[in-house]
Amino acid sequence: MVDQELARAGLRLDIDGSVATVTLNRPERRNAQTPGMWRALARIGDTLPEGVRIVVLRGEGPSFSAGLDLAAFTPEGIPGEGPAFAPGMGPGELDVLIDEYQQGFTWLRRPEITSIAVVRGHAIGAGFQLALSCDLRIAADDAKFCMKEPALGLVPDLTGTKPLVDAVGLARALEICLTVRTVLADEALALGIVQTTVPEDDLDAALADLVASLLKVDAGAAIATKRLLQQAPGNTLDEQRAVERREQSGRILGR
Ligand code: CAA
Repeated sequence: MVDQELARAGLRLDIDGSVATVTLNRPERRNAQTPGMWRALARIGDTLPEGVRIVVLRGEGPSFSAGLDLAAFTPEGIPGEGPAFAPGMGPGELDVLIDEYQQGFTWLRRPEITSIAVVRGHAIGAGFQLALSCDLRIAADDAKFCMKEPALGLVPDLTGTKPLVDAVGLARALEICLTVRTVLADEALALGIVQTTVPEDDLDAALADLVASLLKVDAGAAIATKRLLQQAPGNTLDEQRAVERREQSGRILGR
């Protein structure tokens, strides 16, 4: 994708060897997200160069992302894009459209990459879901997570519900979503929503350390291990150990 298209969608992409950094770049709107941004994110996933092993997702300015651009709820919709959902759409059309929006989030789980969300300030609604779509989350100590959708009469539909339940369990996920409360950095760490919290000034150094550690591991082993771990929650022990045998045989025979 050319830089101008990305800029129009409120994104920046920097690729440095095996590390791609995607920056939500609408700081004046606290990196509010739009359908155009979700389509551009999906295109980044589709066109990622083969050698990229790490994808970092971060926000410009004080907030990671304030969620869906609230202009989407006005009759005029988002300038240059219109409404997120055209009036009169039927269930089939809505299903197709939301699936298209979700594609901006799903690719971050691909085994070929490890994705890292770097969260400063607010991660609200679609912002929280985007962070949850990444494999790992590093947060500054001012990070604030809130699943705001139910307060707007909606549900979180941008692939965030599964990772949230996987991280904190059903009861805590329900409590967080239905009270629409804000989870601060320390609690997010204790609950397993984020893996690391650091003072804001140390965020870049913590990210650099994490990326360096991840890149030390053999690329093929990293892919196979992620693929293996991703299947664990849905498998019985016997199913999972069969997958372990398969992946290990692949590693041994492929060497
Ligand atoms: N959409 C559009 N503009 C937004 C925005 C959003 N989601 N969030 C912030 N902005 C704009 C503000 O309107 C403001 O614009 P002006 O300078 O023109 O007034 C600018 O960004 C800066 O915002 P604040 O002055 O409010 O900045 P802050 O740092 O004091 O507060 C904030 C930040 C807590 C994120 C606050 O802006 C806020 O609560 N924003 C709304 C969050 C929200 O409700 N998001 C929707 C969640 S639901 C969802 O994402 C998914 C879904 O599918 C429905």
